Amino acid sequence: MAVQINPSILSADFARLAEEAGAVGGPGGADWLHVDVMDNHFVPNLTLGVPVVESLARATDIPLDCHLMIEDPDRWAPRFVEAGAGSVTFHAEAAAAPVRLAREIRAKGARASMALKPATPIEPYEDLLPELDMVLIMTVEPGFGGQAFLDIMLPKIRRTRELIGKHGLDLWLQIDGGVADETIERCAEAGADVFVAGSAVYGAQDPAAAVRGLRAKAEQTIATAGRACAH
Ligand code: DX5
Ligand code: ZN
Repeated sequence: MAVQINPSILSADFARLAEEAGAVGGPGGADWLHVDVMDNHFVPNLTLGVPVVESLARATDIPLDCHLMIEDPDRWAPRFVEAGAGSVTFHAEAAAAPVRLAREIRAKGARASMALKPATPIEPYEDLLPELDMVLIMTVEPGFGGQAFLDIMLPKIRRTRELIGKHGLDLWLQIDGGVADETIERCAEAGADVFVAGSAVYGAQDPAAAVRGLRAKAEQTIATAGRACAH
């Protein structure tokens, strides 16, 4: 399980996105840039769309991890792949045909990922997991950065990790919301390996150092858990 840290540009300066991407790059820096797309229907907030993703993809070498908090992802997700996203996440609650959509995203050349809001259980989606490259367990209600981490999501992260193991899948387990120095260890211990962090990275004096700090904590936790399992 390799730790990945994906800074969310929701907490960056939208007028300087290329520079803000650069601020988390470099050795030990961001693995992906997390791009939150909101439509004021699926969530009560509005952010950005395909043209911004297109421009950002040209402006940075860091691959884009697009999190679509929108209605009708069946229609829109493929457009984000065409715009240059390397990974596209749609919400289970919004997708009309998640299997068809995941296959379409993969066929167009991106990683396919499905997100679950806090009240959505993972169990009904067990049979769909082989169709996905990543599952995103939301650890806040989607819509805004800077919210408090929901500890009550830890059992769902654990159960998702168990399902991935049970089916022997090579599936990344992402968490998003309230990830910070104080919470990342609990999430890593529960089985997450891809960590989105907005305010903890872009609210820091040195965003690249914040990414390295989060990575070190998650890696340390996973190494310790691995040793504990081996004994
Ligand atoms: C919230 C977004 C998150 C957000 C996380 O709905 O999906 O990606 O940027 O922000 P923090 O890390 O500040 O909770
Ligand atoms: Zn997000």
